[in-house]
Amino acid sequence: MTEMAGIIPVADSVYWIGAGDRETDKFEGLWELPHGMAYNAYIIKDEKTALIDTVKSSYMDDFLLRLNRVLEDRPLDYVITNHMEPDHSGAMELLRRLYPGVKFVGNAKTIEMMKNFYGIEDGTVEVREGESLDLGSHKLVFATAPMVHWPESMASYDPTNKILFSNDIFGGFGSIEGGIFDDEANLEWAIYEMMRYYVNIVGRFSKQALKALEKVRKLDIATICPSHGPIWRSNPGHVIDLYEKWSRQETDEGVVVVYGSMYGNTKTASDAIARSICASGVNPVTVYDISRSNMSFITTAIWRYRGLILSSCTYNMELYPPMAALLRLLENKNMTGRKIGLCGTYSWASAALKEMSGFVDRSKGGWTLLEPKIEIKSRPGPGNIEQCELLGKNMAEAVRG
Ligand SMILES: Cc1cc2nc3c(=O)[nH]c(=O)nc-3n(C[C@H](O)[C@H](O)[C@H](O)COP(=O)(O)O)c2cc1C
Ligand SMILES: [Fe+2]
Ligand SMILES: [Fe+2]
Repeated sequence: MTEMAGIIPVADSVYWIGAGDRETDKFEGLWELPHGMAYNAYIIKDEKTALIDTVKSSYMDDFLLRLNRVLEDRPLDYVITNHMEPDHSGAMELLRRLYPGVKFVGNAKTIEMMKNFYGIEDGTVEVREGESLDLGSHKLVFATAPMVHWPESMASYDPTNKILFSNDIFGGFGSIEGGIFDDEANLEWAIYEMMRYYVNIVGRFSKQALKALEKVRKLDIATICPSHGPIWRSNPGHVIDLYEKWSRQETDEGVVVVYGSMYGNTKTASDAIARSICASGVNPVTVYDISRSNMSFITTAIWRYRGLILSSCTYNMELYPPMAALLRLLENKNMTGRKIGLCGTYSWASAALKEMSGFVDRSKGGWTLLEPKIEIKSRPGPGNIEQCELLGKNMAEAVRG
């Protein structure tokens, strides 16, 4: 297997032909991309040729050139569409024009979306759970993964090479950094970015992810080829274990303190709470100023650790807007098995503490509220600081072990 520029052999007759994106600031317009984003696409060149997923439309040029080069003078027989989100389906319409005989393979929900997104109605091949597509010496077996994270989400398995083309499952943020395999990557960073992707894109659908993992566990997997992030070939079992841990919402000892503060009074209280947690022997304690960190980093830390302190000022009769946005994101994720402490500040008519308490109540036990609930008028006085220290101690006790 020789390597042409940008066409990287993954296994016998299987090539990576994806794209690296260092221009998009925020994935889905929301999640910051300090190291960019990769859209992985793969091609199997057998008696039949099959492309597995495409790329975001703004990254089509390179991808199409590579596809053309890797096919040489062969036709493109199939496009396997594991997921219709436009970061993977972006080239479909043009592929139909460039390769007129191509067949688009997907499940019934995929085929409905092909029509709605790109007007593709003919040349489609519907596959069901467990069905396979024969390419010659390879075949692809399809496993649906409904709502991980779209209704049509699917994975394709190649038993010949023991490769799972998992699409968004096991995907991570981050562009191509020279290598595309896990053993060529900065692993600590790659796993963090996989978790940040999991929490923000898949987290809400953790129950469905567990069902998909049950199917994954039944396969003999040597290599996981996701649609984002590195190819996992060194120890795919470790990646599957991590994914399961996140899906089960298993937490580590540690506390995240998130505060929203305009003039520092709420910050002072939050610092006192954080100090008290640390002094009570819990490590790590991570403090975020909600106005200064992209939400995706904060949610990732919150997913990981057992304890959370939310501390916010009141703003125009409501909770400070970025804190309200965080609560909406967290509520959307149906988190469970967590401990929470609250601190609200105000000067004339309090709203922050009430709104944060409402969030805890609506979680129906997903978040266990620790005492004391702290409310501070304008500036924390000695009595308030004592309460902060007590909350810190109680939190430390609650998350330990
Ligand atoms: C623009 C603005 C709007 C505010 N709206 C309210 C409000 O509706 N009700 C209230 O009790 N306090 C309100 N406050 C006061 C703050 O919530 C209060 O002073 C708090 O201690 C500020 O905390 P900080 O120093 O951490 O920013 C407002 C303050 C500002 C600057
Ligand atoms: Fe997606
Ligand atoms: Fe994706």
